[in-house]
Amino acid sequence: MATLSLVQTSISLKPALDAIGKSMDQRFDRLLPVPADGRERLFLAMRHAVIGGGKRMRPLLVVAACDLFHVDRERALRVAVAIEAVHCYSLIHDDLPCMDDDDLRRGQPTVHKAFDEATAVLAGDSLHALAFEVLADPATHEDPFARAELVLELARASGPSGMAGGQMMDLAAESESFDIGQTTRLQQLKTGALIGFCLEAGAIMGRVPDAGRTPLRGYAHDLGLAFQIADDLLDVEGSSAKTGKAVQKDAAAGKATFVSLMGVERARTQAQTLINQAIEHLASFGQEADLLRAIARFAIERDR
Ligand code: IPE
Ligand code: IPE
Ligand code: MG
Ligand code: MG
Ligand code: MG
Repeated sequence: MATLSLVQTSISLKPALDAIGKSMDQRFDRLLPVPADGRERLFLAMRHAVIGGGKRMRPLLVVAACDLFHVDRERALRVAVAIEAVHCYSLIHDDLPCMDDDDLRRGQPTVHKAFDEATAVLAGDSLHALAFEVLADPATHEDPFARAELVLELARASGPSGMAGGQMMDLAAESESFDIGQTTRLQQLKTGALIGFCLEAGAIMGRVPDAGRTPLRGYAHDLGLAFQIADDLLDVEGSSAKTGKAVQKDAAAGKATFVSLMGVERARTQAQTLINQAIEHLASFGQEADLLRAIARFAIERDR
């Protein structure tokens, strides 16, 4: 039964993942023409980070959430570019020697390996800024309140109460002993916050009032946690050939994760329970939420 659902999920999701991948590549290509001046290296590094790799799950989440509310596809893709830019910035910095010190990302040398550390820091900074530039542009939404809300939510999700804060806790988890509660909080910030933005952005773009956002917030909460458990499981059980990044790094760093705290089997069960819950949060939606349901299954069935 489990195998059957895995096959069905990957078949239905693959065209959508391929399409969003192409779309992101085209958009980043247009956004980042390489200038013939002293910034050439910076633009090449940014392009290295954002073009031609990654699952693009966050952009697909944005589009799937926007589709629920019939948001114009071009506009949804602008928001998708913004979240992918922040995500790629977070990966560039995550791979730096002062953080996880990784040489391989998406099957390619990490940005500081392909270029150098200073360029990698600046490429990350620039992608971070680019995301807000894209969101704040009137082409993203005609209503300035909607644009301001997008900017506010992405700032919250990226900063000290979101991704960056989670990354700080993640570093602390190498030297301090974290329990399940602390690890859950860490994962919510480090990974859950940016995933949460993807769903919130769909509601903002569709001008859905706060009260109507509860199902999407519940879905995002459970998906974010499950997604990071799957990442931690891949670190233990996955292959570098498939994931395109080094594996078995968390245990080597002595990092507390759900897997180190619960063991592989319980972590896998926990991830499955969270995904079932995530899908239950969508019960008030019909077929229009099938893409979100498929993404949720993919989040834990993936091998990369
Ligand atoms: C990796 O994210 C970092 C985490 C938050 C776990 P992804 O697994 O989405 O990485 P890409 O974008 O597919 O490379
Ligand atoms: C990184 O988590 C999360 C962010 C970049 C915010 P990990 O360090 O576990 O991600 P990978 O395994 O390097 O992709
Ligand atoms: Mg890390
Ligand atoms: Mg890492
Ligand atoms: Mg990891």
